[in-house]
Amino acid sequence: MFTNPKDLPRMGNIVIYGAGNMGLYTYKYLTANGLMPLCFCDEDTSKHHKQPYYDCDLLCLSFNEAVSKYGDDFNIYISVDNMVVKFEIEDYLVNTYKVSKGRIINFDDYYRGWGCSVLENQICPFSNTYIDFRCQCRFYNYFALPKADWKNNDTETALDEFISNRRVLKQQLIDEPEKSPCYGCSRLCDGYWSTSNGAIHFDIVAYSTTKNSLCNMKCKYCYGLLHLNNTNVEDRRIELLDLLEQREVVSVEKTQIILSDGEITVDPHRDELLALYNRGYYICIFTNAGIFSQKIADMLSNGNSEILVSVDAGTKETFRRLKGVDTFDKVCSNLLKYSKTGGTTELKYVLIDNENDNEDDIRGFIELCQKCNNINLLRDIRFSVDFTRSREMLPENTMRLFRYANKLCAVYGLPVSFNAPHEFSAVEHKYITNK
Ligand SMILES: C[S@@+](CC[C@H](N)C(=O)[O-])C[C@H]1O[C@@H](n2cnc3c(N)ncnc32)[C@H](O)[C@@H]1O
Ligand code: SF4
Ligand code: SF4
Repeated sequence: MFTNPKDLPRMGNIVIYGAGNMGLYTYKYLTANGLMPLCFCDEDTSKHHKQPYYDCDLLCLSFNEAVSKYGDDFNIYISVDNMVVKFEIEDYLVNTYKVSKGRIINFDDYYRGWGCSVLENQICPFSNTYIDFRCQCRFYNYFALPKADWKNNDTETALDEFISNRRVLKQQLIDEPEKSPCYGCSRLCDGYWSTSNGAIHFDIVAYSTTKNSLCNMKCKYCYGLLHLNNTNVEDRRIELLDLLEQREVVSVEKTQIILSDGEITVDPHRDELLALYNRGYYICIFTNAGIFSQKIADMLSNGNSEILVSVDAGTKETFRRLKGVDTFDKVCSNLLKYSKTGGTTELKYVLIDNENDNEDDIRGFIELCQKCNNINLLRDIRFSVDFTRSREMLPENTMRLFRYANKLCAVYGLPVSFNAPHEFSAVEHKYITNK
């Protein structure tokens, strides 16, 4: 993971850069090995001068404050769950603060150019047929992307093919981005990326559903796409993880497992998948909360996992129309039960034209979020648009409703964020947030 424990004594004083989930892991790792870091640093000013974790006394400071307090008598461990962000921090420390690379304990070389975080960090065996790229790829140019055939090949061969495809795509983005099948995808961005093609680390392993677990809801914006590619093949998802572990390209400390793209509570292999928690991975569970799972509730109580629930409505009627089942009340009561575990939760609302794009639904949804926030562990309320729509200006009504949602969340003191297939411009951002 971080470094060989026998090297720890020569690390000297350590500042942990990043006060999120990964920061806590690093803190626990270092203290378990007898090293007490000086402080945390983070770019998020709302974390400054506070203890970011209830069970750890260290403060989080801005990097400037750390320098004023400790001079340059410390080394830095960057602890974030996304390599792209890690490279941005490296660049910022080296070029803005003139920190020497040698002081960054986990420094990796990077370059600046077109790239994509999905391509860089994720492996997503889709529908059990292929090992391929997913996320927005599912919505963008899916068929143009090279696929590693997992159906006819053993897992080892399929993984090699996947890694080779990835290398070719990365190189193409450097040499001729406009000829890449990724060209035009909303995930593509000008950023910092790893130069080491060989030293892969998957920060995210995302599993999707199997043929046998048709979802218990039929959301208009998802259901068709979700089952586009399902074929009846044996479940080799755990075998893939075993192989990734053998090759040391995943690690409990840095890899998150995402159970998404379908409904985990109806997946016939749900017990095996949820049991990956016992290996020590952080597990992000996407669920529609239509079925309450005691196992998930127990995981939430114990920490090291979270649920992300796409509710998408604030009234019974809209829920029934959009999601194809009449279970809004059940979902609300299940969410309240989950919230009582004290576990981390993100509640989502995908705004669909002429379906749920009205103030009544948004208000109802935010009131539900407020009820689920009774112990302040609602990490985020995320509004997004349908990602299958093109990368264009959002309709006026969408922008107006985002602004409305932002205002209402501020009244309740709830965290909120907004997603679109493109990055919001400064003007759009100002319109939504009034800042
Ligand atoms: C496919 S769902 C599976 C998880 C779970 N069944 C649920 O409904 O929350 C994973 C996530 O993808 C999002 N999603 C699916 N289709 C989408 C689309 N067309 N646009 C934006 N988000 C979408 C959903 O909101 C959900 O949060
Ligand atoms: S840029 Fe888009 S299409 Fe290409 S790998 Fe990333 S998410 Fe997939
Ligand atoms: S509940 Fe989730 S997986 Fe099922 S159709 Fe809706 S968004 Fe898709």
